[in-house]
Amino acid sequence: MSQAFTKAMARNIFYGGSAFFILLFLALTFQTHKAWPERDNRQNITASVSAGKVLWEENNCIGCHTLLGEGAYFAPELGNAFQRLGGKDGIKAFIMSRPKDGIPGRRSMPQFNFTEAELDAIADFLEYVSGIDTANWPPNIQG
Ligand code: HEC
Repeated sequence: MSQAFTKAMARNIFYGGSAFFILLFLALTFQTHKAWPERDNRQNITASVSAGKVLWEENNCIGCHTLLGEGAYFAPELGNAFQRLGGKDGIKAFIMSRPKDGIPGRRSMPQFNFTEAELDAIADFLEYVSGIDTANWPPNIQG
């Protein structure tokens, strides 16, 4: 006797499968939200970090760089720039060292003429980002 695959069976698989994956999605969403406070480094958001974030947006750094993987692929990933450049001083020295219009003939970063306070804020922002628990992403120091 051949077994028929009835409409009722198809409907049950559809509803059962949908319910299962909706519940799984909700559980994973809930779990993600619960994990954020321990992972997103929110305790280290200071006024200077926020000011750095504003400068980051106003100067469209993301137009060339990625930050934790999001952004443009023109320039290096900056989620771990704090470690790569040896801390705040390294970041500030790099940004200050850029020539006025970048280096002619090759991909390079322009000079933004930031004040000392602005440089501090940007370095604080990048330090904060480097403290986010990304489960060791990016996988290498080059980003
Ligand atoms: C026009 C594209 C462009 C913009 C906009 C830009 N950058 Fe860059 N940036 C680069 C390039 C290209 C490099 C690679 C080094 C070089 O040759 O200048 C770089 C390198 C860096 C580095 C050093 C990274 C490393 O690992 O050596 C830091 C830090 C940095 N940028 C920060 C910033 C910040 C902060 C902003 C926003 C205020 C910004 N950049 C905006 C193009 C850009």
